[in-house]
Formats: sequence, structure tokens, C-alpha cells
Amino acid sequence: MTKSMDAIMALCKRRGFIYQASEIYGGINGFWDYGPLGAQLKKNLRDAWWEDMILRPAWGRSGPNGKPVRCVPVETCIIQHPKVWEASGHLAGFADPMRKCPGCGHFVRADQYWETMAQWSEWLNTLIQGFEPHTGRYDTEVILKWARTKGKRVAPNLAVVRNPEVTLVALATRINGQPAAPLDMKELVQYLGTEFLEKTGLQEPCPRCGAPLGQPAPFKLMFQSWSGVTQSDENVVYLRPETAQGIFVQFKNVTDTTRVKIPFGIGNAGKSFRNEVTPRNYTYRSREFEQAELEFFCHPEESQAWYAFWRDFRMEWWKSLGLAGENLILREHAKDELSHYSQGTSDVEYRFPFTAPGFGELEGIAHRGDYDLTQHAKHSGAKLEYNDTDRGEILPNGGRRGERYLPHCIEPAAGLDRGVLALLCEAYTKDETRASPEFLKLHPRLAPVKAAIFPLVAKDGMPEVAEKLHADLAARFWRQGAVEMDEKQSIGKRYARMDEAGTPYCFTIDGDTLTNQTVTCRDRDSGQQTRLAIDQVGAFLAEKLGQA
Ligand code: GAP
Repeated sequence: MTKSMDAIMALCKRRGFIYQASEIYGGINGFWDYGPLGAQLKKNLRDAWWEDMILRPAWGRSGPNGKPVRCVPVETCIIQHPKVWEASGHLAGFADPMRKCPGCGHFVRADQYWETMAQWSEWLNTLIQGFEPHTGRYDTEVILKWARTKGKRVAPNLAVVRNPEVTLVALATRINGQPAAPLDMKELVQYLGTEFLEKTGLQEPCPRCGAPLGQPAPFKLMFQSWSGVTQSDENVVYLRPETAQGIFVQFKNVTDTTRVKIPFGIGNAGKSFRNEVTPRNYTYRSREFEQAELEFFCHPEESQAWYAFWRDFRMEWWKSLGLAGENLILREHAKDELSHYSQGTSDVEYRFPFTAPGFGELEGIAHRGDYDLTQHAKHSGAKLEYNDTDRGEILPNGGRRGERYLPHCIEPAAGLDRGVLALLCEAYTKDETRASPEFLKLHPRLAPVKAAIFPLVAKDGMPEVAEKLHADLAARFWRQGAVEMDEKQSIGKRYARMDEAGTPYCFTIDGDTLTNQTVTCRDRDSGQQTRLAIDQVGAFLAEKLGQA
């Protein structure tokens, strides 16, 4: 069963995972803030990426060359020299085809037009069903009459009310032409009839006001600003639309100043900005978001093997964090989907409630060949060739003339906000039989609160024992996340509160603790309670959090 996005968003707001940015001013479209639990959850995901991609890449496995994988980090600026974006192709090519409405000025992404229409056509469908009891039939005249009279009062801003003829014709034509399209409006076509279509002609309406839309034109996705006091064309700068380019432009510095040798990776994580035309689906498509990208540089002959290595590891990694089962797929791009320079791209995709039964991209793993280094060498004039002293011609004196080449690059590019969203959607569980009918089954590694300590009642010395256990656990586990102490409300309500936060374990100090030194350990997912010696709680938690 598909989970309700509204319920997930309500829980995220109620428990302080995600807030609308600038909410007290009415919010700002495409921007989201993380509250106390969300900020820690996102940090835990970022840390997991950093640990498993930089500090101990691929969990310490050997790569296809039989040697341990080596990666180093960089942290590069959000604002780079504008030529970086010229070289990368973002300045010329990073644009979506847009259609502007001449009526209300609304912009619609040309390639998402029918998806946008489908959102309100669903509503229209419900409306059409509603006519039946009154008239016993559906026909165009009934819908038009509704739009002109009742519709003007109850929903004046709907396209079907403002411009019913254009809107109805467009929908009907769409359905006629593509019976498999997701718009389930067969009745509408049936009752519109060809005469009506011919009379009014086909014009695609603006989803907001229904006026005929203009032709598609490119719309730049990069945010623009000025660097320095003069706001002139020479001072224009851009906020980075990806973290990857910061890596390519520092490739030479990294190889010149460290001992890394090919094959090796450079990781970069941080904020990226895209002035998305239609930010939507909560944090899924935002205008400010965080990426965690690795560029893995290797010899061209080994690049296919490294591509397969990273593609498979990245899929395994997301699974290890709890996104397992049929909600997660690895989708290899078809040849005609690939950029001209790419020899292969795969996406790790998750079935979000708003994409179901389809999937949405979490991470792309791309074989980028030597495209980026070639572009930056050409535009900057810098020599970016790598001198590989492990390869090349053996000289008569037994020495070696290194092989010079531009390395190929494999790029696993993950989105941390989409990652957090997928984890929250996957973790969200409804069970009406529990005292906490909604809870989050977050992986212990990612859970923002690792454990909670409760004195059963605030008397008989229980709070003192609880405080001591809390202090011990907090001192031991503070690096991984919070350990909370809670003595307010009934024990059931305290469990429910922790379940909603995704806290995997709760330990309760009760009457027996005072006599036999054991505590109740409650497991979030099963709700089962077992008894544990109080001096074993630290070891138990360490094992569960994977740091015994
Ligand atoms: N350097 C390659 C690159 O940037 P991408 O597929 O455009 O590739 C990588 O972005 C990841 O960044 C995506 O898989 C997605 O998780 C995340 N991402 C991209 N645009 C986003 C947006 N508008 N909002 C949230 N996350 C986004």
C-alpha cells in the first residue's frame, strides 16, 4: 500500500524533522529547513557517506585492480570563476525548456506539461463524477455550465473555470491520442465528441489559468549574483549547480600536493543550487539542496571495471541503510539517454509515495570519460594530463618513461536531501494496534536519537538511577547522536514520542531495577520488552549501533 505523503509531511513537521523555510513569512517556494531531528538525521547520512566513501572507501574492499580503494576529500567554493561553468557546459546547456503563459505569466516546464495537468485533471475527474446524481449524464454542456456558474464561485482560479473550452479540448485530445496516459478521463472524451473538438481547435492550456500556452523556450537554471561592489556584467557570478566541478578544477592541485596515485577518488559534499522551474514533491526537487559527489579517476582501460564497481557498491550502500526491497532499483540508462561523452550511466532509484508506482532518482553513477578534464584543460590552458609512472615505456637503463594521459572519471553523485526523504518515507510505518500508531523504522546508524532512558515514575530513587545511566550513555555515544532522558507523561506516551522520532531503543528504570539491577529494554520495531542488566546496557547499545 502506498504511504500517504501528507501523513509523512505532518509527522516531519510535528516532530521537528523538516520545516518550510521562512515559514513565518509564508514560506519560500523550493526551500526547506531541517529541524533538530532532521538536521541530525541528515548529518548522520552525510557522515555515513563520508565514512564509507572517503575514510574507508567501499567498506575497505579492494577494487577491480585488486588493491584497496583510495579516496580523499576536498571542500570547494559555492562560487567559482564563471569560466568553470562555461567549460563544464552549464552556462550554455543547463536550461529547461519552458512555456510561459501569456495570460497569467505562469511558467510550465515543457517536458512536464502533462504531469502538471494530470495533477488537477484528477480533481476534474472527481468533479465530473459528481454530476451524475443530478443530471444522470455527463456532457460538455453540463461541464461548461458548471464552469461558468458554480465553478466561478467555488473554484474561480481553476483552468477549467477560467477557460473551459481550451482546457476540455486539450484534455480530451490528449486522452484520444494516448489511451495509456495516466489521465483516467475516458468519460470526458466520450461526452465531448468530435464536433466540439473541431469547433474549438486544440490549444494546450496553462494549468493555472487555462489561457493557451506559448511555445517552449530555454530557461537558465543557475542562480546568478555579482561579486564585488559593481553590479555589472563583468562581475556576474553563479551559485554552483553541482559540487562535481569543484573537484575537476582542483584535480591538478590534489595530484601535485598529495601522494595519491591513479586510480583514486576525490569526494566533495555540500550545497548546490538550481533555480528549478517547478520545485515540488517536498524536498525532492528543491532550489537549494545538498550533494555528495565522488569523482573517481582511473586509466581509460580500467574505466569500465571501475564503473561497474561503483555502480554496484552504491546500490549496496543505500540498501545497507534500510532502503532494501522492491522500493529500490538500479536503472541502467538506455544508449539514447546517455550524454555524448558517457559510456554508461545508472541511477539508483527509490519508489517515493509521490512517484509510485514509478521511481525517482536518488543518485546517478556516470562514466564521464575524460570529458570534464578535457574541457577544463581547453578553457583554462592548464595542463591536466596525469603522468602515470606505474605505466609507460621501460627505458634501456631500466627506468620508466611515465605514460601521460587524461584519466577517465566515474562519478557517483548522490543527493543528501533526496536520501533523507527516501529514508523517512521508507521508515514511516503505520500500525493502528500500537500505542504509537505512526513510527519511524530508521536504521540505528542513522537514527537521530540513539536511545532514551525513562524512570517509570518520578519517585522512589528511580530518577537518580535513570540520570546516572543517561549520563554514562550520553558520554559514550554523543558522537553518534543524542541519548535522551524523559520523565514526563505516562510511559506509553513516552514510548510513542520516541517511536515517532525513530529512536531504536528505550531503557526503563522500574521497581525491579532497584532490587535486581536490571532495566527494561524496549525494541522500537517489535515493541517487545526484555530485561537487561543495567551494567550491560552500554555494551548492548554499542553492538546494535555497530561499534562494539
Ligand atoms: N554531477 C552530476 C550531477 O549533479 P544530477 O543527477 O544532476 O547529477 C545528482 O544530481 C543528485 O543530486 C541527484 O541524483 C539528486 O539526488 C540530487 N539533486 C539534483 N537536483 C536536485 C534538486 N533540485 N533537489 C534535490 N536534489 C537534487
